[in-house]
Amino acid sequence: MNRRYRKTIIAGNWKMNMTPSEARTLINGVKAHCAKSKWCETVVCVPYIDIPLAVRLLKDCRISVGAQNMHHEASGAYTGEISAAMLKDAGVKYVVVGHSERRQYFGETDALVSEKVVRALAADLRPIICVGETLQQRDMGITLEIVGAQVKAALSAVGADKLRRIVFAYEPVWAIGTGRTATVEQASEVCNHIRAVLRKKYGARGARSVTIQYGGSMNETNAKELLAELDVDGGLIGGASLNADSFAAIVNAANQ
Ligand code: PGA
Repeated sequence: MNRRYRKTIIAGNWKMNMTPSEARTLINGVKAHCAKSKWCETVVCVPYIDIPLAVRLLKDCRISVGAQNMHHEASGAYTGEISAAMLKDAGVKYVVVGHSERRQYFGETDALVSEKVVRALAADLRPIICVGETLQQRDMGITLEIVGAQVKAALSAVGADKLRRIVFAYEPVWAIGTGRTATVEQASEVCNHIRAVLRKKYGARGARSVTIQYGGSMNETNAKELLAELDVDGGLIGGASLNADSFAAIVNAANQ
């Protein structure tokens, strides 16, 4: 991480876990352990149904609330969907966009991700854009091309003035929920490449202002060494964010 130019952000991604009653316990635990974070911003990306509770419980502390998805249209006849404006009005600050599980199970394409990014920014939400290669793509040696193309597509309609509002999460698909973490070298190489792609499009000043997280089985044991890399500015944490102690340990690693 490089705190001089950009924020360090540790975000929990609860996925489809935690009923409102369970969420209350976890949020109180996170609040007790993480509220005094010095350097890094702490975010919990909770299921939609837990958002009002999370916003209420975290109102007076420095932990922000995020959503895990949103619809790309502003409003209308999209039964069962949630809009960016609804999230904003509910007190949400961040929204995860293009998570590999959304791409894989819900058919989300780069083009759709780009529309969601634009919509999120227009509603004054900060998108956490997920990019990452599959194991097959890594084995084929095309990781940087794949991730670079995802980054370019996601930002195809984003002007330089909005760049500071963007967060990227590099999440190798093969490392998500598998207990298999990317090595420090692998994480660093790809995060570095993402910044190079940003530099080419927006120039050095814009590129260095963007927070780039690593995600994929990040935990209390490996967080410190991953975060020591200059271009790894935080983490998007799935499994380990469901336990207040483990999540707090990662936040602490980012505060060192
Ligand atoms: P994981 O999930 O930490 O459980 O691997 C990360 C993510 O999907 O964001």
